[in-house]
Amino acid sequence: MFSVFFATLILVLAVRSLGTSPNFILLFADDLGFGDLGCYGHPSSLTPNLDRLASDGLRFTDFYCTSPVCSPSRASLLTGRYQTRSGVYPGVLYPGSRGGLPLNETTIAEVLKPLGYATAAIGKWHLGLGLNGTYLPTRQGFDSYLGVPYSHDMGPCQNLTCFPPDVKCYGRCDVGVVTVPLMNNDVIEQQPVNFLDLERAYSDFATDFITLSARRQQPFFLYYPSHHTHYPQYAGPGAAGHSLRGPFGDALLEFDTTVGNLLSSLEQNGVLNNTLIFFTADNGPELMRMSRGGNAGSLKCGKGTTYEGGMREPAIAYWPGTIRPGVTHELASTLDILPTIAGFAGAKLPSVQLDGVDMTDILVNHGKSKREAMMFYPTDPSEKYGIFALRLGKYKAHFYTRGAAHSETTPDQACHITAFLTAHDPPLLFDLEADPSENYPLSLQEHPELKLLLEKIQSLKTQFDASMVFGESQIGKGSDPELQPCCNPHCSPKPSCCQCR
Ligand SMILES: *[C@@H]1O[C@H](CO)[C@@H](O)[C@H](O)[C@H]1NC(C)=O
Ligand SMILES: *[C@@H]1O[C@H](CO)[C@@H](O)[C@H](O)[C@H]1NC(C)=O
Ligand SMILES: *[C@@H]1O[C@H](CO)[C@@H](O)[C@H](O)[C@H]1NC(C)=O
Repeated sequence: MFSVFFATLILVLAVRSLGTSPNFILLFADDLGFGDLGCYGHPSSLTPNLDRLASDGLRFTDFYCTSPVCSPSRASLLTGRYQTRSGVYPGVLYPGSRGGLPLNETTIAEVLKPLGYATAAIGKWHLGLGLNGTYLPTRQGFDSYLGVPYSHDMGPCQNLTCFPPDVKCYGRCDVGVVTVPLMNNDVIEQQPVNFLDLERAYSDFATDFITLSARRQQPFFLYYPSHHTHYPQYAGPGAAGHSLRGPFGDALLEFDTTVGNLLSSLEQNGVLNNTLIFFTADNGPELMRMSRGGNAGSLKCGKGTTYEGGMREPAIAYWPGTIRPGVTHELASTLDILPTIAGFAGAKLPSVQLDGVDMTDILVNHGKSKREAMMFYPTDPSEKYGIFALRLGKYKAHFYTRGAAHSETTPDQACHITAFLTAHDPPLLFDLEADPSENYPLSLQEHPELKLLLEKIQSLKTQFDASMVFGESQIGKGSDPELQPCCNPHCSPKPSCCQCR
Protein backbone atom coordinates (compact mmCIF):
# COMPACT_ATOMS: atom_id res chain seq x y z
CA MET A 1 0.00 0.00 0.00
CA PHE A 2 2.66 2.45 1.10
CA SER A 3 5.09 1.47 -1.62
CA VAL A 4 2.36 1.98 -4.19
CA PHE A 5 1.62 5.37 -2.69
CA PHE A 6 5.30 6.37 -2.71
CA ALA A 7 5.92 5.05 -6.21
CA THR A 8 3.04 7.17 -7.44
CA LEU A 9 4.18 10.17 -5.44
CA ILE A 10 7.73 9.86 -6.76
CA LEU A 11 6.44 9.64 -10.31
CA VAL A 12 4.29 12.73 -9.93
CA LEU A 13 7.13 14.64 -8.28
CA ALA A 14 9.62 13.49 -10.91
CA VAL A 15 7.37 14.62 -13.70
CA ARG A 16 6.90 18.01 -12.06
CA SER A 17 10.50 18.57 -11.03
CA LEU A 18 11.61 18.07 -14.62
CA GLY A 19 9.37 20.99 -15.37
CA THR A 20 7.80 18.84 -18.02
CA SER A 21 4.09 18.56 -17.53
CA PRO A 22 2.91 15.49 -19.44
CA ASN A 23 0.94 15.81 -22.63
CA PHE A 24 -2.36 14.00 -23.11
CA ILE A 25 -3.98 12.58 -26.21
CA LEU A 26 -7.49 11.24 -25.77
CA LEU A 27 -8.79 9.14 -28.65
CA PHE A 28 -12.49 8.28 -28.67
CA ALA A 29 -13.86 5.95 -31.34
CA ASP A 30 -17.52 5.95 -32.37
CA ASP A 31 -19.91 2.97 -32.09
CA LEU A 32 -16.91 0.68 -31.78
CA GLY A 33 -17.53 -2.65 -30.10
CA PHE A 34 -15.50 -4.73 -27.67
CA GLY A 35 -14.58 -7.11 -30.48
CA ASP A 36 -13.64 -4.68 -33.24
CA LEU A 37 -9.88 -4.23 -32.89
CA GLY A 38 -7.18 -6.64 -33.92
CA CYS A 39 -5.77 -6.51 -30.38
CA TYR A 40 -9.20 -7.47 -29.00
CA GLY A 41 -9.39 -10.52 -31.21
CA HIS A 42 -11.10 -9.39 -34.40
CA PRO A 43 -9.86 -11.74 -37.12
CA SER A 44 -9.99 -9.36 -40.10
CA SER A 45 -9.61 -5.82 -38.70
CA LEU A 46 -6.34 -4.12 -39.62
CA THR A 47 -5.37 -1.91 -36.70
CA PRO A 48 -1.57 -2.06 -36.53
CA ASN A 49 -1.15 1.24 -34.70
CA LEU A 50 -3.81 0.64 -32.07
CA ASP A 51 -2.38 -2.86 -31.70
CA ARG A 52 1.05 -1.29 -31.07
CA LEU A 53 -0.44 0.94 -28.35
CA ALA A 54 -1.95 -2.19 -26.81
CA SER A 55 1.16 -4.35 -26.97
CA ASP A 56 3.46 -1.60 -25.66
CA GLY A 57 0.87 -0.20 -23.24
CA LEU A 58 -1.85 -1.33 -20.88
CA ARG A 59 -4.95 -2.97 -22.32
CA PHE A 60 -8.17 -2.99 -20.27
CA THR A 61 -10.61 -5.88 -20.36
CA ASP A 62 -13.23 -4.37 -18.02
CA PHE A 63 -13.60 -0.76 -19.08
CA TYR A 64 -17.00 0.97 -19.37
CA CYS A 65 -18.56 4.01 -20.89
CA THR A 66 -21.58 5.50 -19.12
CA SER A 67 -24.25 5.39 -21.81
CA PRO A 68 -25.08 3.13 -24.73
CA VAL A 69 -25.44 6.20 -26.97
CA CYS A 70 -23.25 9.08 -28.05
CA SER A 71 -23.89 12.47 -26.45
CA PRO A 72 -24.39 11.30 -22.84
CA SER A 73 -21.28 9.13 -23.06
CA ARG A 74 -19.24 12.13 -24.28
CA ALA A 75 -20.60 14.35 -21.52
CA SER A 76 -19.37 11.84 -18.92
CA LEU A 77 -15.98 11.42 -20.57
CA LEU A 78 -15.24 15.14 -20.55
CA THR A 79 -16.68 15.91 -17.08
CA GLY A 80 -15.97 12.76 -15.03
CA ARG A 81 -19.67 12.76 -14.06
CA TYR A 82 -22.63 10.60 -14.98
CA GLN A 83 -24.66 12.26 -17.74
CA THR A 84 -27.66 12.59 -15.43
CA ARG A 85 -25.83 15.34 -13.55
CA SER A 86 -25.09 17.52 -16.58
CA GLY A 87 -28.50 16.81 -18.15
CA VAL A 88 -27.12 15.41 -21.42
CA TYR A 89 -30.00 12.89 -21.81
CA PRO A 90 -32.27 11.36 -23.04
CA GLY A 91 -30.85 10.14 -26.34
CA VAL A 92 -28.59 12.45 -28.31
CA LEU A 93 -28.33 16.05 -29.49
CA TYR A 94 -29.40 17.05 -33.03
CA PRO A 95 -28.14 19.75 -35.43
CA GLY A 96 -30.80 22.23 -34.28
CA SER A 97 -30.83 21.30 -30.58
CA ARG A 98 -31.32 24.20 -28.19
CA GLY A 99 -29.30 22.53 -25.43
CA GLY A 100 -25.76 21.24 -25.00
CA LEU A 101 -23.24 20.37 -22.34
CA PRO A 102 -23.92 23.19 -19.83
CA LEU A 103 -21.14 25.76 -19.77
CA ASN A 104 -20.80 25.53 -16.01
CA GLU A 105 -19.67 21.92 -16.31
CA THR A 106 -15.87 21.61 -16.14
CA THR A 107 -14.30 19.68 -18.99
CA ILE A 108 -10.86 18.02 -19.01
CA ALA A 109 -9.67 20.92 -21.18
CA GLU A 110 -10.85 23.41 -18.55
CA VAL A 111 -9.11 21.40 -15.83
CA LEU A 112 -5.80 21.72 -17.73
CA LYS A 113 -6.13 25.30 -19.01
CA PRO A 114 -5.06 27.02 -15.74
CA LEU A 115 -1.76 25.08 -15.92
CA GLY A 116 -0.92 26.60 -19.28
CA TYR A 117 -1.88 23.69 -21.50
CA ALA A 118 -2.55 24.15 -25.19
CA THR A 119 -5.86 22.40 -25.91
CA ALA A 120 -7.40 21.28 -29.18
CA ALA A 121 -10.30 19.12 -30.30
CA ILE A 122 -10.83 17.52 -33.68
CA GLY A 123 -13.67 15.37 -34.93
CA LYS A 124 -17.13 14.63 -33.64
CA TRP A 125 -18.13 16.93 -30.80
CA HIS A 126 -21.80 16.04 -30.30
CA LEU A 127 -22.20 18.08 -27.13
CA GLY A 128 -24.23 20.84 -28.72
CA LEU A 129 -24.00 23.94 -30.89
CA GLY A 130 -26.85 26.14 -29.70
CA LEU A 131 -27.45 29.75 -30.61
CA ASN A 132 -24.32 31.24 -32.21
CA GLY A 133 -22.22 28.23 -31.28
CA THR A 134 -22.86 28.58 -27.55
CA TYR A 135 -21.83 24.97 -26.84
CA LEU A 136 -18.97 24.43 -29.26
CA PRO A 137 -15.60 23.12 -27.99
CA THR A 138 -14.09 26.62 -28.10
CA ARG A 139 -16.55 27.57 -25.32
CA GLN A 140 -15.63 24.51 -23.26
CA GLY A 141 -11.89 24.99 -22.76
CA PHE A 142 -10.52 24.08 -26.19
CA ASP A 143 -8.30 26.70 -27.85
CA SER A 144 -9.13 25.34 -31.27
CA TYR A 145 -11.49 22.94 -32.98
CA LEU A 146 -11.76 21.35 -36.38
CA GLY A 147 -14.64 19.00 -36.90
CA VAL A 148 -18.19 18.01 -37.60
CA PRO A 149 -20.10 19.06 -34.49
CA TYR A 150 -22.47 16.05 -34.44
CA SER A 151 -22.94 12.60 -36.02
CA HIS A 152 -22.20 12.56 -39.71
CA ASP A 153 -25.44 10.76 -40.56
CA MET A 154 -27.38 13.78 -39.25
CA GLY A 155 -27.68 15.26 -42.70
CA PRO A 156 -28.69 14.11 -46.16
CA CYS A 157 -26.49 11.34 -47.47
CA GLN A 158 -26.15 12.82 -50.96
CA ASN A 159 -22.68 14.13 -50.37
CA LEU A 160 -21.61 11.07 -48.47
CA THR A 161 -20.10 8.88 -51.11
CA CYS A 162 -17.59 6.21 -50.46
CA PHE A 163 -14.42 5.78 -52.48
CA PRO A 164 -14.39 5.48 -55.45
CA PRO A 165 -16.51 8.64 -55.43
CA ASP A 166 -19.36 7.24 -57.47
CA VAL A 167 -20.21 4.59 -54.89
CA LYS A 168 -23.33 5.64 -53.02
CA CYS A 169 -23.25 5.50 -49.28
CA TYR A 170 -24.97 2.61 -47.67
CA GLY A 171 -28.46 3.00 -46.22
CA ARG A 172 -30.21 6.23 -45.27
CA CYS A 173 -29.19 9.32 -43.38
CA ASP A 174 -31.34 12.13 -41.99
CA VAL A 175 -33.28 14.19 -44.51
CA GLY A 176 -34.88 17.62 -44.05
CA VAL A 177 -31.82 19.03 -42.27
CA VAL A 178 -28.80 20.99 -43.47
CA THR A 179 -25.94 19.13 -45.11
CA VAL A 180 -23.15 18.15 -42.74
CA PRO A 181 -20.75 21.05 -42.01
CA LEU A 182 -17.04 21.10 -41.17
CA MET A 183 -16.36 23.75 -38.55
CA ASN A 184 -13.12 25.53 -37.82
CA ASN A 185 -13.59 26.90 -34.31
CA ASP A 186 -17.05 28.44 -34.64
CA VAL A 187 -16.92 29.16 -38.37
CA ILE A 188 -18.28 26.83 -41.05
CA GLU A 189 -15.39 25.95 -43.32
CA GLN A 190 -17.14 23.47 -45.64
CA GLN A 191 -20.79 22.60 -46.13
CA PRO A 192 -21.21 19.87 -47.14
CA VAL A 193 -18.00 18.48 -45.69
CA ASN A 194 -15.75 16.51 -48.02
CA PHE A 195 -15.60 13.13 -46.30
CA LEU A 196 -12.98 11.71 -48.62
CA ASP A 197 -10.50 14.33 -47.47
CA LEU A 198 -11.67 14.67 -43.88
CA GLU A 199 -9.28 12.25 -42.20
CA ARG A 200 -6.29 13.88 -43.89
CA ALA A 201 -7.48 17.27 -42.62
CA TYR A 202 -7.82 15.92 -39.08
CA SER A 203 -4.46 14.22 -39.19
CA ASP A 204 -2.71 17.36 -40.49
CA PHE A 205 -4.44 19.56 -37.93
CA ALA A 206 -3.44 17.20 -35.10
CA THR A 207 0.18 16.75 -36.14
CA ASP A 208 0.56 20.53 -36.63
CA PHE A 209 -0.86 21.06 -33.16
CA ILE A 210 1.60 18.57 -31.64
CA THR A 211 4.56 20.06 -33.52
CA LEU A 212 3.71 23.65 -32.62
CA SER A 213 3.09 22.85 -28.95
CA ALA A 214 6.32 20.84 -28.72
CA ARG A 215 8.36 23.64 -30.34
CA ARG A 216 6.91 26.11 -27.86
CA GLN A 217 7.60 23.61 -25.07
CA GLN A 218 3.99 24.01 -24.08
CA PRO A 219 2.23 20.97 -22.61
CA PHE A 220 -0.80 19.97 -24.63
CA PHE A 221 -4.10 18.14 -24.56
CA LEU A 222 -5.50 16.79 -27.81
CA TYR A 223 -9.00 15.31 -27.85
CA TYR A 224 -9.83 13.36 -30.97
CA PRO A 225 -13.32 11.86 -30.99
CA SER A 226 -13.39 10.19 -34.40
CA HIS A 227 -16.44 9.79 -36.65
CA HIS A 228 -14.98 6.71 -38.17
CA THR A 229 -16.73 3.38 -37.59
CA HIS A 230 -20.08 5.16 -37.01
CA TYR A 231 -22.50 4.44 -39.82
CA PRO A 232 -22.42 5.33 -42.75
CA GLN A 233 -18.76 4.46 -42.98
CA TYR A 234 -16.48 6.41 -45.28
CA ALA A 235 -12.79 6.21 -46.10
CA GLY A 236 -10.50 8.26 -48.30
CA PRO A 237 -8.43 6.87 -51.15
CA GLY A 238 -5.61 5.68 -48.85
CA ALA A 239 -7.87 3.28 -46.96
CA ALA A 240 -10.91 2.49 -49.10
CA GLY A 241 -10.70 -1.11 -50.25
CA HIS A 242 -7.49 -1.66 -48.28
CA SER A 243 -8.83 -3.65 -45.36
CA LEU A 244 -10.08 -7.21 -45.32
CA ARG A 245 -13.31 -6.18 -43.65
CA GLY A 246 -15.20 -4.06 -46.17
CA PRO A 247 -16.39 -0.49 -45.44
CA PHE A 248 -16.28 -0.81 -41.64
CA GLY A 249 -12.75 -2.18 -41.81
CA ASP A 250 -11.67 0.54 -44.24
CA ALA A 251 -13.00 3.28 -41.94
CA LEU A 252 -11.26 1.71 -38.96
CA LEU A 253 -8.04 1.38 -40.95
CA GLU A 254 -8.16 5.07 -41.90
CA PHE A 255 -8.62 6.05 -38.26
CA ASP A 256 -5.79 3.72 -37.27
CA THR A 257 -3.55 5.40 -39.84
CA THR A 258 -4.12 8.72 -38.10
CA VAL A 259 -3.13 7.10 -34.82
CA GLY A 260 0.11 6.10 -36.54
CA ASN A 261 0.62 9.67 -37.76
CA LEU A 262 0.15 11.00 -34.24
CA LEU A 263 2.73 8.52 -32.92
CA SER A 264 5.25 9.56 -35.60
CA SER A 265 4.66 13.20 -34.81
CA LEU A 266 5.22 12.63 -31.07
CA GLU A 267 8.39 10.69 -31.89
CA GLN A 268 9.73 13.31 -34.33
CA ASN A 269 9.13 16.06 -31.81
CA GLY A 270 10.80 14.10 -29.00
CA VAL A 271 7.73 14.08 -26.76
CA LEU A 272 6.60 10.46 -27.06
CA ASN A 273 8.02 9.64 -23.61
CA ASN A 274 6.16 12.52 -22.06
CA THR A 275 2.74 11.83 -23.51
CA LEU A 276 -0.09 9.68 -22.22
CA ILE A 277 -2.27 8.36 -25.03
CA PHE A 278 -5.62 6.99 -23.93
CA PHE A 279 -7.92 5.23 -26.37
CA THR A 280 -11.49 4.08 -25.85
CA ALA A 281 -14.95 4.39 -27.47
CA ASP A 282 -18.31 5.98 -26.78
CA ASN A 283 -20.67 3.01 -26.88
CA GLY A 284 -21.11 -0.44 -28.31
CA PRO A 285 -21.59 -1.43 -31.95
CA GLU A 286 -24.67 -0.45 -33.91
CA LEU A 287 -25.67 -4.00 -34.76
CA MET A 288 -28.69 -2.90 -36.82
CA ARG A 289 -26.20 -2.00 -39.56
CA MET A 290 -25.33 -5.68 -39.81
CA SER A 291 -21.82 -6.33 -41.12
CA ARG A 292 -21.27 -2.55 -41.23
CA GLY A 293 -22.24 -2.07 -37.62
CA GLY A 294 -19.25 -3.17 -35.57
CA ASN A 295 -18.80 -6.17 -33.33
CA ALA A 296 -19.27 -6.72 -29.61
CA GLY A 297 -17.07 -9.83 -29.62
CA SER A 298 -18.13 -12.21 -26.88
CA LEU A 299 -20.44 -9.66 -25.25
CA LYS A 300 -24.25 -9.58 -25.35
CA CYS A 301 -26.12 -7.10 -27.62
CA GLY A 302 -24.74 -3.68 -28.50
CA LYS A 303 -25.60 0.01 -28.84
CA GLY A 304 -28.73 1.22 -27.08
CA THR A 305 -28.74 -1.55 -24.44
CA THR A 306 -27.32 -1.85 -20.95
CA TYR A 307 -26.01 -5.33 -21.65
CA GLU A 308 -22.23 -5.61 -21.75
CA GLY A 309 -22.09 -5.19 -25.52
CA GLY A 310 -23.63 -1.73 -25.22
CA MET A 311 -21.23 -0.39 -22.64
CA ARG A 312 -18.04 -2.40 -22.22
CA GLU A 313 -15.40 -0.95 -24.53
CA PRO A 314 -11.86 -1.54 -25.65
CA ALA A 315 -9.49 0.77 -23.76
CA ILE A 316 -5.74 1.24 -23.99
CA ALA A 317 -3.33 3.44 -22.04
CA TYR A 318 0.07 4.02 -23.62
CA TRP A 319 2.98 5.97 -22.18
CA PRO A 320 6.41 4.51 -22.89
CA GLY A 321 8.69 4.63 -19.88
CA THR A 322 5.80 5.21 -17.47
CA ILE A 323 3.21 2.55 -18.27
CA ARG A 324 4.57 -0.98 -18.48
CA PRO A 325 3.03 -3.23 -21.12
CA GLY A 326 0.33 -5.55 -19.86
CA VAL A 327 -3.33 -6.36 -19.54
CA THR A 328 -5.52 -5.27 -16.65
CA HIS A 329 -8.81 -6.81 -15.55
CA GLU A 330 -9.51 -3.96 -13.15
CA LEU A 331 -12.86 -2.19 -13.28
CA ALA A 332 -12.53 1.26 -14.85
CA SER A 333 -14.56 3.80 -16.77
CA THR A 334 -14.49 6.86 -18.99
CA LEU A 335 -15.51 8.67 -15.77
CA ASP A 336 -12.03 7.99 -14.39
CA ILE A 337 -10.11 9.73 -17.17
CA LEU A 338 -10.61 13.30 -15.89
CA PRO A 339 -9.33 12.59 -12.36
CA THR A 340 -6.43 10.57 -13.76
CA ILE A 341 -5.33 13.29 -16.16
CA ALA A 342 -5.74 15.90 -13.43
CA GLY A 343 -3.54 13.77 -11.16
CA PHE A 344 -0.74 13.39 -13.69
CA ALA A 345 -0.82 17.09 -14.53
CA GLY A 346 -1.04 18.19 -10.91
CA ALA A 347 -4.27 20.05 -11.73
CA LYS A 348 -7.01 20.99 -9.30
CA LEU A 349 -10.15 18.87 -9.51
CA PRO A 350 -13.35 20.78 -10.19
CA SER A 351 -15.31 21.40 -7.01
CA VAL A 352 -18.34 19.38 -8.06
CA GLN A 353 -19.66 15.90 -7.33
CA LEU A 354 -17.34 13.74 -9.43
CA ASP A 355 -18.16 10.11 -10.27
CA GLY A 356 -14.67 9.27 -11.51
CA VAL A 357 -11.74 7.92 -9.50
CA ASP A 358 -8.01 8.25 -10.17
CA MET A 359 -6.62 5.34 -12.24
CA THR A 360 -2.95 6.26 -11.75
CA ASP A 361 -2.23 3.18 -9.66
CA ILE A 362 -3.70 0.89 -12.35
CA LEU A 363 -1.66 2.60 -15.05
CA VAL A 364 1.67 3.04 -13.30
CA ASN A 365 1.78 -0.01 -11.01
CA HIS A 366 -0.69 -2.38 -12.64
CA GLY A 367 -2.43 -1.91 -9.29
CA LYS A 368 -5.96 -2.16 -8.00
CA SER A 369 -8.89 -0.05 -9.07
CA LYS A 370 -10.34 2.47 -6.66
CA ARG A 371 -13.69 1.96 -8.40
CA GLU A 372 -16.07 -0.14 -6.35
CA ALA A 373 -19.02 -0.27 -8.75
CA MET A 374 -20.20 0.73 -12.19
CA MET A 375 -23.71 2.05 -12.79
CA PHE A 376 -25.56 1.42 -16.04
CA TYR A 377 -28.04 4.04 -17.19
CA PRO A 378 -30.29 3.44 -20.20
CA THR A 379 -30.51 5.89 -23.11
CA ASP A 380 -33.34 7.68 -21.28
CA PRO A 381 -32.41 7.84 -17.58
CA SER A 382 -35.26 8.71 -15.24
CA GLU A 383 -35.76 9.19 -11.52
CA LYS A 384 -38.57 6.64 -11.73
CA TYR A 385 -36.32 3.69 -12.64
CA GLY A 386 -32.85 4.96 -11.75
CA ILE A 387 -29.99 2.78 -12.95
CA PHE A 388 -30.92 -0.27 -15.02
CA ALA A 389 -27.96 -2.35 -13.91
CA LEU A 390 -25.01 -2.30 -11.51
CA ARG A 391 -21.67 -4.07 -11.54
CA LEU A 392 -19.99 -4.84 -8.23
CA GLY A 393 -16.72 -6.75 -8.48
CA LYS A 394 -17.27 -9.53 -10.97
CA TYR A 395 -21.05 -9.55 -10.54
CA LYS A 396 -23.57 -7.58 -12.55
CA ALA A 397 -27.21 -7.24 -11.58
CA HIS A 398 -29.86 -6.14 -14.06
CA PHE A 399 -32.87 -4.50 -12.41
CA TYR A 400 -34.35 -3.69 -15.80
CA THR A 401 -33.54 -4.94 -19.27
CA ARG A 402 -34.70 -3.73 -22.65
CA GLY A 403 -33.70 -4.34 -26.25
CA ALA A 404 -33.03 -1.53 -28.74
CA ALA A 405 -33.49 -0.77 -32.43
CA HIS A 406 -29.74 -0.11 -32.55
CA SER A 407 -29.13 -3.74 -31.57
CA GLU A 408 -31.52 -5.36 -34.07
CA THR A 409 -30.56 -8.16 -36.48
CA THR A 410 -28.45 -10.43 -34.28
CA PRO A 411 -30.06 -13.81 -33.53
CA ASP A 412 -30.36 -12.92 -29.81
CA GLN A 413 -33.99 -11.76 -29.38
CA ALA A 414 -33.17 -10.08 -26.04
CA CYS A 415 -31.29 -7.38 -27.99
CA HIS A 416 -34.19 -6.46 -30.29
CA ILE A 417 -36.60 -3.58 -29.94
CA THR A 418 -39.36 -6.11 -29.39
CA ALA A 419 -37.75 -7.02 -26.05
CA PHE A 420 -39.75 -4.44 -24.10
CA LEU A 421 -38.79 -2.98 -20.75
CA THR A 422 -38.79 -5.79 -18.18
CA ALA A 423 -38.30 -5.37 -14.44
CA HIS A 424 -36.40 -8.11 -12.61
CA ASP A 425 -37.02 -8.75 -8.93
CA PRO A 426 -34.79 -10.27 -7.78
CA PRO A 427 -32.42 -8.78 -10.35
CA LEU A 428 -30.88 -10.93 -13.07
CA LEU A 429 -27.45 -11.71 -11.71
CA PHE A 430 -24.41 -12.68 -13.77
CA ASP A 431 -20.84 -13.60 -12.92
CA LEU A 432 -19.05 -11.62 -15.64
CA GLU A 433 -15.79 -13.47 -15.16
CA ALA A 434 -17.30 -16.93 -15.63
CA ASP A 435 -19.96 -15.72 -18.07
CA PRO A 436 -19.01 -12.44 -19.80
CA SER A 437 -21.70 -13.05 -22.41
CA GLU A 438 -24.50 -12.75 -19.80
CA ASN A 439 -26.04 -16.03 -20.92
CA TYR A 440 -26.62 -17.80 -17.61
CA PRO A 441 -28.32 -15.88 -14.80
CA LEU A 442 -27.39 -17.21 -11.36
CA SER A 443 -30.31 -18.43 -9.32
CA LEU A 444 -30.46 -17.89 -5.58
CA GLN A 445 -31.89 -21.38 -5.14
CA GLU A 446 -28.69 -22.81 -6.51
CA HIS A 447 -26.44 -20.15 -4.97
CA PRO A 448 -27.84 -19.23 -1.55
CA GLU A 449 -24.43 -17.78 -0.68
CA LEU A 450 -25.15 -14.90 -3.07
CA LYS A 451 -28.05 -13.58 -0.99
CA LEU A 452 -25.85 -11.18 0.99
CA LEU A 453 -24.20 -9.96 -2.17
CA LEU A 454 -27.57 -9.26 -3.78
CA GLU A 455 -28.64 -7.31 -0.70
CA LYS A 456 -25.50 -5.21 -0.95
CA ILE A 457 -26.08 -4.57 -4.65
CA GLN A 458 -29.71 -3.66 -3.96
CA SER A 459 -28.72 -1.20 -1.26
CA LEU A 460 -26.01 0.35 -3.46
CA LYS A 461 -28.65 0.95 -6.13
CA THR A 462 -31.08 2.47 -3.63
CA GLN A 463 -28.39 4.76 -2.20
CA PHE A 464 -27.07 5.79 -5.58
CA ASP A 465 -30.49 6.49 -7.07
CA ALA A 466 -31.53 8.47 -3.99
CA SER A 467 -28.37 10.60 -4.09
CA MET A 468 -28.45 11.35 -7.83
CA VAL A 469 -29.40 14.94 -8.58
CA PHE A 470 -30.72 15.04 -12.15
CA GLY A 471 -29.65 18.13 -14.09
CA GLU A 472 -32.24 19.79 -16.30
CA SER A 473 -32.56 17.73 -19.50
CA GLN A 474 -30.65 19.50 -22.25
CA ILE A 475 -32.10 17.31 -24.96
CA GLY A 476 -35.60 17.87 -23.57
CA LYS A 477 -35.22 21.53 -24.58
CA GLY A 478 -35.98 20.41 -28.13
CA SER A 479 -34.76 21.78 -31.46
CA ASP A 480 -35.22 24.85 -33.59
CA PRO A 481 -34.48 24.54 -37.35
CA GLU A 482 -33.04 28.09 -37.22
CA LEU A 483 -30.22 26.79 -35.01
CA GLN A 484 -28.97 24.33 -37.62
CA PRO A 485 -25.56 25.46 -38.85
CA CYS A 486 -25.92 27.22 -42.21
CA CYS A 487 -23.06 28.58 -44.26
CA ASN A 488 -25.20 31.30 -45.83
CA PRO A 489 -27.72 31.98 -43.08
CA HIS A 490 -29.99 34.26 -45.08
CA CYS A 491 -30.46 31.93 -48.06
CA SER A 492 -33.66 30.21 -49.12
CA PRO A 493 -35.12 27.67 -49.33
CA LYS A 494 -33.60 26.11 -46.27
CA PRO A 495 -32.23 23.64 -45.47
CA SER A 496 -31.05 22.70 -48.99
CA CYS A 497 -29.56 26.14 -49.74
CA CYS A 498 -27.11 25.88 -46.84
CA GLN A 499 -24.00 25.15 -48.90
CA CYS A 500 -20.48 26.51 -49.25
CA ARG A 501 -17.15 25.05 -50.10
C1 LIG B 1 -25.10 24.67 -13.60
O1 LIG B 1 -26.21 25.55 -13.55
C2 LIG B 1 -27.45 24.89 -13.36
C3 LIG B 1 -28.55 25.92 -13.52
O2 LIG B 1 -28.33 26.99 -12.68
C4 LIG B 1 -27.46 24.21 -12.00
O3 LIG B 1 -28.69 23.56 -11.79
C5 LIG B 1 -26.32 23.21 -11.95
O4 LIG B 1 -26.24 22.63 -10.68
C6 LIG B 1 -25.00 23.88 -12.28
N1 LIG B 1 -23.98 22.85 -12.43
C7 LIG B 1 -22.79 22.96 -11.89
C8 LIG B 1 -21.84 21.86 -12.16
O5 LIG B 1 -22.45 23.90 -11.20
C1 LIG C 1 -26.02 35.73 -32.93
O1 LIG C 1 -25.24 36.15 -34.04
C2 LIG C 1 -25.93 37.03 -34.91
C3 LIG C 1 -25.07 37.23 -36.14
O2 LIG C 1 -23.72 37.43 -35.79
C4 LIG C 1 -26.22 38.30 -34.15
O3 LIG C 1 -26.92 39.19 -34.99
C5 LIG C 1 -27.06 37.98 -32.94
O4 LIG C 1 -27.24 39.15 -32.15
C6 LIG C 1 -26.40 36.93 -32.10
N1 LIG C 1 -27.32 36.53 -31.05
C7 LIG C 1 -26.94 36.43 -29.80
C8 LIG C 1 -28.03 36.05 -28.82
O5 LIG C 1 -25.80 36.60 -29.41
C1 LIG D 1 12.17 7.18 -23.60
O1 LIG D 1 12.08 6.28 -22.52
C2 LIG D 1 12.69 5.05 -22.78
C3 LIG D 1 12.36 4.14 -21.62
O2 LIG D 1 12.57 4.79 -20.40
C4 LIG D 1 14.17 5.25 -23.00
O3 LIG D 1 14.78 4.03 -23.30
C5 LIG D 1 14.36 6.20 -24.15
O4 LIG D 1 15.72 6.52 -24.29
C6 LIG D 1 13.60 7.48 -23.93
N1 LIG D 1 13.66 8.30 -25.13
C7 LIG D 1 13.85 9.60 -25.09
C8 LIG D 1 13.86 10.31 -26.41
O5 LIG D 1 13.99 10.19 -24.06
